[in-house]
Amino acid sequence: MTEPIARIAVIGGSGLYSLFDPAASEKRRIETPYGPADVTVGELGGRTVAFLTRHGVNHSVAPHLINYRANIWALASLGVKAILSSAAVGGVSPDYAPGSLVLTDQYIDRTHGRADTFFDLVSVQHLGSADPFDPVLHAIAADALQSAGETVIHEGTVVVIQGPRFSTRAESLWFRAAGAHTVNMTLYPEVPLAAELGIGTVNLSYVTDSDAGVSADEKQGEVLSAELVFSRLKEAQPRIVAAIETIIRAIPDEYAGRDLIDPAEVAKVLNQ
Ligand code: ADE
Repeated sequence: MTEPIARIAVIGGSGLYSLFDPAASEKRRIETPYGPADVTVGELGGRTVAFLTRHGVNHSVAPHLINYRANIWALASLGVKAILSSAAVGGVSPDYAPGSLVLTDQYIDRTHGRADTFFDLVSVQHLGSADPFDPVLHAIAADALQSAGETVIHEGTVVVIQGPRFSTRAESLWFRAAGAHTVNMTLYPEVPLAAELGIGTVNLSYVTDSDAGVSADEKQGEVLSAELVFSRLKEAQPRIVAAIETIIRAIPDEYAGRDLIDPAEVAKVLNQ
């Protein structure tokens, strides 16, 4: 394989559109079989990191229109083995209150019509998904945040909805009854796509709201809106970026990714 350009990537969710000093980073447009992806390579936490903003710089790409395959393919072609994904989520369970940080470890997919596999180009295999997020990276992140004195919830099941609309109250209560703790619009299919290319993902979610206004006491609480989500994210930005840096610092250089499928197949199509 050619020398990797970056072994760690950060995918920025809503509100996180840049991560580096512009003077000390390099923007790259990467062509993939699924179209181009824009990645910035810079330094963070003593590492070379590839940064990709999920919704585009001006939050111009809706969740269902994100080119997830191009994004993940581009990161794999740079040699990335670990993705730290950041996301804004709503709290579906009252225990996941606005202001909480969560290391998500399970998802429930409620999206539809999204291109969610590379097994059209890579010869078909069946991805084990019992632990969709990388348990090794999850443990590294949990330890690092604890050592840094950051309070974080160590497990969470996110239900990923199609969007762009938020959930109805009935849907939100149903998700809670089904065991979901948080809700989001973008973590699927990003996580299994990365796994198909041998990349482990750890997710750091920030709870911006109580979904559908369902507050802990079951009465209608705040009115959920995109403005509320963005203003909460803006307030929390320094905390989220500090947590990201803490996690990146803790991921070992020799971290080799997750081989849930045949790595030789992946290397062949990536020409590595
Ligand atoms: N992102 C942030 N809050 C959300 C919510 N309540 N539903 C879906 N995605 C979200």
